[in-house]
Amino acid sequence: MAYLSVANATKRFGETFTALKDVSISVERGEFFTLLGPSGCGKTTLLRSIAGFNQLTSGSIAIEGRDLGSVPPHKRDIGMVFQDYAVFPHLTVFENVAFGLKARKVARDEIARRVPKALEAVRLGALAERLPAAMSGGQQQRIGLARAMVINPQLLLMDEPLSNLDAKLRVELREEIRDIQKQIGIAAIYVTHDQEEALAISDRICVMSNGHVEQLGTPQEIYGNPQTLFVASFVGTINALKPGEALTRLLGQLDLTNADNTHPGATWVVRPENLIVASERAEVGEPQAEITGTVSKYTYLGREAHLQIHSDLGDLVVHVANPDRTAVQREGEVKVVVTRSAVLGFGADGKRIGV
Ligand SMILES: Nc1ncnc2c1ncn2[C@@H]1O[C@H](COP(=O)(O)OP(=O)(O)OP(=O)(O)O)[C@@H](O)[C@H]1O
Ligand SMILES: [Mg+2]
Repeated sequence: MAYLSVANATKRFGETFTALKDVSISVERGEFFTLLGPSGCGKTTLLRSIAGFNQLTSGSIAIEGRDLGSVPPHKRDIGMVFQDYAVFPHLTVFENVAFGLKARKVARDEIARRVPKALEAVRLGALAERLPAAMSGGQQQRIGLARAMVINPQLLLMDEPLSNLDAKLRVELREEIRDIQKQIGIAAIYVTHDQEEALAISDRICVMSNGHVEQLGTPQEIYGNPQTLFVASFVGTINALKPGEALTRLLGQLDLTNADNTHPGATWVVRPENLIVASERAEVGEPQAEITGTVSKYTYLGREAHLQIHSDLGDLVVHVANPDRTAVQREGEVKVVVTRSAVLGFGADGKRIGV
């Protein structure tokens, strides 16, 4: 049995607006589960419903099979970390973390034992007596994390905890959060709209749009095997191939004509790193087609290079790994190889076409 299960959750605000539409997810014990989606898609609404701050319009939420419907927030065994640090400025780090325990009437000696442990876990042990104002954004966010963890919750909810931090700190702290979560072995639901962050730290990702679940799967499944056009374009980047004669020819060479004919209005896409510039061509045991284009832009990034190639299939972005070793062309005419498996098709309804 899943640890947490949300079944057919629907949340309406007012008469007409539906923020969650029939959302069903289950989270396993010890799992790092991420809700990923654009602003306004319902991530916070779902998280708040799990925490008990929102009442669902219909559907149910259960932990270990026990329905939470009538359990108030403070009786749920759930820790929550918010987007803004929400630390008390007049309390020391220690007092901030002890706050929730005091509210729960935990004995003083127990507090003296548990708070240092939680601070140790988030590497703030040495700063227990400081006031938050004298700490960096990353350190303040870790106070929030310690505060959520000190009540020994069975489930940790984190709503964009890193969004106020700079890029470098985000990467460091996301690794820490992941390590700490695995160390204590609790289930976590993490909200972000940053796809790279989601791919990096999650066991599974639930991609949401417009209040519903688009796709749920491991990072590899979400990135490598997107089931909808929305997921393919929200997670990673895609080249949508321009409809026309060149595309018809390409699909023919790749043995995809039939799939195209049976899906009027289909969109065919290729990820930039799956296009092969002919100079680095490898033997592949599958249908492939070669197209000719002209390099219109070359961006060298060290580890990789981004080429913009003008072709009959539209302006294609191609990512080449290790450009110094592959000596990729920076200008002029190039040949681009398209393999069958690199091309993903989506029907007019946005759903992936099986081929
Ligand atoms: N209390 C409320 N009353 C009315 N509408 C609300 C309320 N709370 C949220 N909404 C609406 O529900 C939708 C989903 O909001 P939610 O906060 O869940 O989005 P989100 O995915 O967390 O977005 P973000 O990434 O910007 O935080 C939005 O359109 C929002 O305006
Ligand atoms: Mg939100």
